[in-house]
Amino acid sequence: MNLTEFIEGHRDQHLAELCEFLRIPSVSAKSEHKPDIEQAARWVLDKLRSAGFKTVEVVPTHLHPLVYAESLEAPGKPTILFYGHYDVQPAEPLQLWTSPPFEPTVRNGNLFGRGTADDKGQVHIHLKALEALQAVNGKFPINIKVLIEGEEEVGSVSLWDYVQKNKEKLKADALVVSDTSMLAKGVPSITYGLRGLNYYQIELTGPARDLHSGVYGGAVPNPLTILTELFAQLHDKNFRVALPGFYEGVAKLSTAERKALNALTWKRKDFEKAVGAPGYVGEKGFTTIEQLWVRPTFEINGIWGGYTGEGAKTVIPSKAYAKFSTRLVPNQDPHKIAKLVEKHIRKLLPKIVTCKFTLLSTGKPWTAPFHAPIFAKAQSALQKGFGRKAVFIREGGSIPFVTQMHDTFKVPCVLMGFGLPDENAHAPDEHIALENYFGGIKAIAHFYADLAAG
Ligand code: BES
Ligand code: MN
Ligand code: MN
Repeated sequence: MNLTEFIEGHRDQHLAELCEFLRIPSVSAKSEHKPDIEQAARWVLDKLRSAGFKTVEVVPTHLHPLVYAESLEAPGKPTILFYGHYDVQPAEPLQLWTSPPFEPTVRNGNLFGRGTADDKGQVHIHLKALEALQAVNGKFPINIKVLIEGEEEVGSVSLWDYVQKNKEKLKADALVVSDTSMLAKGVPSITYGLRGLNYYQIELTGPARDLHSGVYGGAVPNPLTILTELFAQLHDKNFRVALPGFYEGVAKLSTAERKALNALTWKRKDFEKAVGAPGYVGEKGFTTIEQLWVRPTFEINGIWGGYTGEGAKTVIPSKAYAKFSTRLVPNQDPHKIAKLVEKHIRKLLPKIVTCKFTLLSTGKPWTAPFHAPIFAKAQSALQKGFGRKAVFIREGGSIPFVTQMHDTFKVPCVLMGFGLPDENAHAPDEHIALENYFGGIKAIAHFYADLAAG
């Protein structure tokens, strides 16, 4: 039996097994899911073992365990490090799901459930590709190291320490990741750039306690008013971020890259359908693709305080809170950006409130050339899985590990994503197209086989 026949013949088993993985609610953000996190890690370990890995381990960390496996039995062949994550985002708001988030369901050629696209479905693609290679050839064609973490969705906090302490162990000729998207359905894509992410929280305090807005209103500071006035000043009329120094060091796109990115068959209609807003905004002077992939942003992610329950309550809150973030691009320095964000916010705030400013996480942007021979191999493997030549894209999301690896080992990072931009990652009704899941298994199996062929 050849590779394609094996994969085709196991579609039902593959899908059933993925559903088993998806039923484990491994939400990394919530401590109540700690047992599920542990179960998901063991599940991955178990599947790595049955795929043919003899060296497998669950590595405990300060937060959630990492799963590591290796097979170094192909002397003279390249060594690949595959990275992915088994943790998922919280599923709330639950009432907006058509079928329950942890009861995977097929509808219209898509598999619905939390983690289908981000990233359990994509991790499973690699597990099954490796298993197929083992089943057909009796061994892996290349040397392979696998690292699957459980903290990606909360900033990969434990991972950096692990990488620093295990440099020799993790050393590889290339990093392979499937945790990104394709440009569009039927268009296999290799991502060569990601934005970085800094995440912040502030707490503003005005009055020492909540106050009756009739008794005190008009003569006291309202921290929610001050918060909204603050944020109203952080974009200018051209939708540029109004933080002094924010754009310093932002790399200008070369004419060639600008041309290449804007020549991609990106469809505005698909984008607008996925967003569904009555109108659009963005930094003046840049195309939407550029706004999404190569320009930095400032976004408010949540504001709260005061009364938000049923009916009315006339209150002046003592406190106002906000979570916000900056997406960063080459060559912005996350630490410099964090400093200037805090400095400017403190400067804008009137002295009638106090401000507690917390930097929750930082992450560098990443982009790298794609002329190493492995990229051509990835392109032709994707052609085998999808019948069409892969394009090279950048994306706006962030994967902290990719930057860490690239900085630490200076090796090619090959990001072959099988999600789609409209598959509702992090949102209700997350799904993956079955054709991309099955096409992915085929492409990745051929990719690893072709790497051995030299
Ligand atoms: N898989 C995504 C990253 C991603 C999304 C890359 C879309 C390319 C396109 C990842 O799981 C993720 O959600 N990352 C977070 C960052 C993390 C530090 C919480 C993100 O981008 O917000
Ligand atoms: Mn992901
Ligand atoms: Mn994610």
